[in-house]
Amino acid sequence: MELFLDTADRNEIRRWLAYGLVDGVTTNPSIMLRDGALDAERTAREIAALIAPRPLSVEVTTNDPDEMVRQARVMAAWAENIVVKIPVINEYGEPCYRAVRALDGEGIRVNMTACLSFGQAALAAKAAATYVSIFAGRVADEGHDAPALVREVVEWLRLWGYPAKLIVGSVRGPIDIKEAALAGAHVITVPPPVLDRFVEHRYSRETVRGFNEDARTALARMEQLKKEVAA
Ligand code: E4P
Repeated sequence: MELFLDTADRNEIRRWLAYGLVDGVTTNPSIMLRDGALDAERTAREIAALIAPRPLSVEVTTNDPDEMVRQARVMAAWAENIVVKIPVINEYGEPCYRAVRALDGEGIRVNMTACLSFGQAALAAKAAATYVSIFAGRVADEGHDAPALVREVVEWLRLWGYPAKLIVGSVRGPIDIKEAALAGAHVITVPPPVLDRFVEHRYSRETVRGFNEDARTALARMEQLKKEVAA
């Protein structure tokens, strides 16, 4: 299972890279805005260089599938490891699969994003998307069972041998990471604060504190014994 960071925060990316746990990064226009990355090109180039050769997903910002293809070409030229995010449908409900097909023909990798149903995800794989992003948190917002959906799509991809990797995004808490992992997600993209909560445990800290304290006590006793023997 691969772990991506869902962020445009370069400091967080550096921190998690240093732990040796990052397989890629995903962004979208809202993440860029939230993380103060107003210049999308500059930010994307910086992150792409930081994480290369791991993939960085950057999203198009238009409703027009032809313009999506044009934007995608520009974005893909920023760095070799950029994957372009194309929404599964635009805000008017028009499917955007033809943009994926066109870009695949040009060797540009696509992450088909904002998928909330089996049908959307299956057709994204059929349209030759490299990644298919299912937004688990938003699936749950709609009252549906996100882990069940992830399990079904992963099984269907396996059954027919589609090479697409399923990314679970829209992760809001540690339990979402566990559920996605157990459902067989190929990739989970996680905001750094959620990843911190996935790792943190008060009792682990207390356990380590106890070990460190006992190690210091043992050292002090050893020093005392050495003095007594020397005396
Ligand atoms: C990831 O690729 C998505 O853009 C992101 O996880 C969406 O998360 P949200 O539903 O919390 O906005």
